[in-house]
Amino acid sequence: MFSRHFTCSDGRGNSRVKIHESIVRGVLVGTFLALVFACGSSDDSGATNADQLAQGKQTFRFDTFGDETKWTDALHLDQAISTVDPTTALKVGLKVDSEALPQAVVTGIQNGSISLTDPATTLALLKLDAVVGVKATVTSVNGKDTLTRVGITCALCHSTVDNAFAQGIGKRLDGWPNRDLDVGTIVALSPALDDAARAVFKSWGPGRYDPRFNLDEKNGPQVIPPAYGLEGIHSVTATGDGQDLQYWNRYVAVTQMGGHGSFSEPRTGVSVTNGTDDLVSSKLPALQAYQLSIPAPAPPAGSFDPAAATRGKQVFDGSCATCHSGPEFTDANTRLHPVSDSMGEPESSGVPSYASRSATKMYRTAPLKGIWQHPPYFHNGSAATLEDVVSVYNDRRSLGLTSDQRADLVQYLKSL
Ligand code: HEC
Ligand code: HEC
Repeated sequence: MFSRHFTCSDGRGNSRVKIHESIVRGVLVGTFLALVFACGSSDDSGATNADQLAQGKQTFRFDTFGDETKWTDALHLDQAISTVDPTTALKVGLKVDSEALPQAVVTGIQNGSISLTDPATTLALLKLDAVVGVKATVTSVNGKDTLTRVGITCALCHSTVDNAFAQGIGKRLDGWPNRDLDVGTIVALSPALDDAARAVFKSWGPGRYDPRFNLDEKNGPQVIPPAYGLEGIHSVTATGDGQDLQYWNRYVAVTQMGGHGSFSEPRTGVSVTNGTDDLVSSKLPALQAYQLSIPAPAPPAGSFDPAAATRGKQVFDGSCATCHSGPEFTDANTRLHPVSDSMGEPESSGVPSYASRSATKMYRTAPLKGIWQHPPYFHNGSAATLEDVVSVYNDRRSLGLTSDQRADLVQYLKSL
């Protein structure tokens, strides 16, 4: 137990250096020296760690795991994308990485000589790897730039930009869910879908995606969650299906993105293999390390009232902390909860319980760090604001909070 305090993290929630209790008892000073040495940035494992994070970031942003097989060969989205101009692409929530743009392009966009209503500009942006989460191969066919292959990466859904250049154009914010992205509308552009499937995709709306529909054919989209602030949480997804991120990253890479590799889960009967090669497994450790290194973003200055937040903490400790406990505000490492504990249930009419479609059939208490950043709330986005969250708890759990207490609690939630 004592040894737990004398560890330094490798960024994966594992202890890179564990100083055994007996040594700690023996030579306390020596141990501290050893610890400082072992955790110092100049040692080899520190360098390896930095390499691994760089590799994971590269995978997160740019790796398709070979999923062009799905997005190009099966869905033919390359054909649809070739006709989409940047303005339309930004409208469906796609983001442009301003740091990938050479100065000439920046100037051209600013002075209007590069048109944002010309599909050729989309192609130019894709060629620069500037469309977040979309990886394209642009080759010259008869002297003309042509989109030949297209695939998607994790960043499509789990990155956005800071809008510093213009709405939808700015620096990447990895781990921030793209709540503007209308995945369903984009997939619905595929000429390969039948009408029934197209209608399902079109029903989702921005910021939502159903990561099980293609397997169980039930329609109940989830809000795209953040991929930040997950260090120390050993239960992933809204239903706690896996013990670590690698579990779910493999699930998404193979079963959703269409990457080459295998995923199988006896609890749901899902078993998918794409291709005869494996372009996923070897990338999972670094991909996980990178995500775990992304902290939840701090609330912007002035975005909450500190005095009210301090009062709100009392309310939270009394009414919420039994489940939202510990530094990540979740008891996910020790238990999951029955469907009745979720204020996002029952689902809206006609939608099957999301838990019922999962491996655990239960819900994880959602971690709350950075909660200010990603409305709407609950797995299905049923609460539009934190005010709505507090009021649904107050009613359904009969908390009897006064309106002042509710307002203070909201300020506290905004401060996390
Ligand atoms: C098409 C959109 C989309 C893409 C692409 C995507 N995800 Fe997700 N991701 C989701 C949705 C929706 C969920 C919520 C699933 C749930 O909770 O059951 C999710 C859940 C997660 C979670 C769980 C977060 C938590 O709180 O436990 C992680 C981590 C994650 N995704 C990482 C990734 C990685 C890494 C990739 C690339 C391999 C990826 N995602 C690709 C939509 C996407
Ligand atoms: C009995 C356990 C329990 C208690 C008590 C509890 N919660 Fe939760 N909370 C959960 C679970 C489980 C979820 C996930 C529900 C879902 O996604 O459908 C959740 C989700 C949330 C979310 C949504 C997070 C997101 O990412 O969308 C917020 C905000 C929240 N709770 C705040 C509170 C507040 C404020 C209180 C006290 C008034 C509270 N909770 C009390 C278990 C609990």
